[in-house]
Amino acid sequence: MYFRDVLCNEVGQSHVGQSIKLCGWVAKSRDHGGVVFIDLFDYSGIVQLVFNPDCSGFNIAERLSTHSVLCIEGTVRPRPEGTVNPNLATGQIEIDVEKILWHNQAAALGFDVNDEKVGDDVRAQHRVLDLRSEKMQNSLRFRAKMIQKMRTFLEQENFLEVETPILTRATPEGARDYLVPSRNHPGSAFALPQSPQQYKQMLMMAGMDRYYQVARCFRDEDLRADRQPEFTQLDMEMSFMTADEICELIERMVHYLVEELKGQKLEPFLQMSYDDALTYYGTDAPNLCNPLKFTPMDDVFSDSDFGVFQSQAVKDGARVVALRVPQAVDKMTRRDLDRYTDLVSKLGAKGLAYIKVNDVTNIESGLNSPILKFLSKEHIEKMLKAVSAENGDMIFFGAGDNKLVNLTMHALSKQIAMDLELMQEGLNFVWVKAFPMFEKEDGRLMSVHHPFTAPVEEDENALDTAKAQAYDLVLNGHELGGGSIRISNPELQKRVFELLNIDAETAQEEFGHLLNALNQGCPIHGGVAFGIDRMCMVLLGTESIREVIAFPKTQTASCALTKAPGKASRQQLRELGLTLLKGD
Ligand code: AMO
Ligand code: AMP
Repeated sequence: MYFRDVLCNEVGQSHVGQSIKLCGWVAKSRDHGGVVFIDLFDYSGIVQLVFNPDCSGFNIAERLSTHSVLCIEGTVRPRPEGTVNPNLATGQIEIDVEKILWHNQAAALGFDVNDEKVGDDVRAQHRVLDLRSEKMQNSLRFRAKMIQKMRTFLEQENFLEVETPILTRATPEGARDYLVPSRNHPGSAFALPQSPQQYKQMLMMAGMDRYYQVARCFRDEDLRADRQPEFTQLDMEMSFMTADEICELIERMVHYLVEELKGQKLEPFLQMSYDDALTYYGTDAPNLCNPLKFTPMDDVFSDSDFGVFQSQAVKDGARVVALRVPQAVDKMTRRDLDRYTDLVSKLGAKGLAYIKVNDVTNIESGLNSPILKFLSKEHIEKMLKAVSAENGDMIFFGAGDNKLVNLTMHALSKQIAMDLELMQEGLNFVWVKAFPMFEKEDGRLMSVHHPFTAPVEEDENALDTAKAQAYDLVLNGHELGGGSIRISNPELQKRVFELLNIDAETAQEEFGHLLNALNQGCPIHGGVAFGIDRMCMVLLGTESIREVIAFPKTQTASCALTKAPGKASRQQLRELGLTLLKGD
């Protein structure tokens, strides 16, 4: 006894006349005057079954609901003339069913899995049904193929796959940790890894030479469309390679992946410094599909009488930028301008100045703007020249603290590009390099990447302002991967901890294992980690990361299907020596 000869989509002309066995789910069932037609589907596609009243399972077939499971045996025959379906791969044939080998009735579903209009929350609660949809089937198969191709590439390049622990100590990557309280050690907790960072470095110190892992990472942070609390990285580390060599290898891998998965040959990736990314795009993950760029305006307004701009143009840590949108005067209504002002205000901006350029040669009456009255003729001319203004342009201005201007003007640029359909198609990769080691937050230094990132050698003596040997790979505005050359000298590592306000005792307690290993013969090493979910999401062009993960978490970091996190019982809490403040 067996159940299946071929997949639904594989039945073809060559099977005509043969008896075959098939399995699948009922997509649709129609009763045509005593003959039952069932469209049977599996992940490969659809095939039409025909049940005549004399077939042994006819009574069952008549009652099968949508998404019931069916295994049958029947004879393949050409469809009668006039009933051929040219839109279906199996549209030339049908199966005259002789018997039902097995079946399992499905309860009423409540929604059509292939209906794009069904909301995300309904789908999330019925994930098993949702996963049967063509879209989810394709997406998970794409993901699996991507991981398989990553493995093929890395195995050829002599990488060794090593698994690292999930129950571990905290490793800083900038998010909160998920903790697992220890029953054996009351008062202590494991942390789930935010990344395998320290382990992979220790593997290099252990002589593994080149490591990779398809690694699950856990970060308790605010969720966005391209973030999950639990996600998967392609994590890599290499010994005895420079940053340029590592980037070259990564680029070769990504070219290979895109060619294998999408049949597309990529151009060499562009490169941009972190400073330029922030100066011209307001973000360290610029989307080069968007043709709009900022023009820095500090020099233009530093001696202007318009205090709102002048004060920011001369202030440290503040800036004035212009965003020129070509040929937009006729496309933007008053309501659009209000909407844009609203957008930036909600993010914290004090206002949104703009100028409509009707006639660039006529400063008196060719321009239209609420801020013209504050600006001298000389400053208007300087401003128009700086942005290379042309007739029909809309020019927007943001002034304020760097972070705020970057955030608000980046959001504005994205919104305008979407509204005016300026986003160009395609895969726009860019390396962002020359990151600083640290940034200041509330007066304290924080690592831009993580504390194990090496500074460029020339800057080792001025660590607080040093540039890092770090690189990020950005695709269409998403940070796909990030990495660096690591610190391989324990003294330098200690100095970095000190700058991060981690005192020697804490450093020894939390990172002693790494500091000791750094002392026991550490090769120069570096690596990278790619967000597999993100990469899938961008390559497939899906809107949310949830569409490339089988069982994702919701926006509130819970599982809509299993309702995790679940209540812990009093008994469990007692064993762990815990009291939960809420929900006990
Ligand atoms: P980083 O923190 O930049 O680097 O993470 C690497 C990549 O992982 C993906 N990623 C995420 N994907 C989904 N949801 C999240 N919450 C999430 N957070 C990160 C991104 C990101 O580029 N240990 C270092 C790497 C290294 O230095 O080698 C690290 O984890 O695509
Ligand atoms: P105000 O003098 O505050 O009325 O501002 C005059 C114009 O400048 C208005 O169009 C405001 O929207 C705009 N504006 C005010 N503050 C800022 C700012 N920080 N950045 C950009 N535009 C601003």
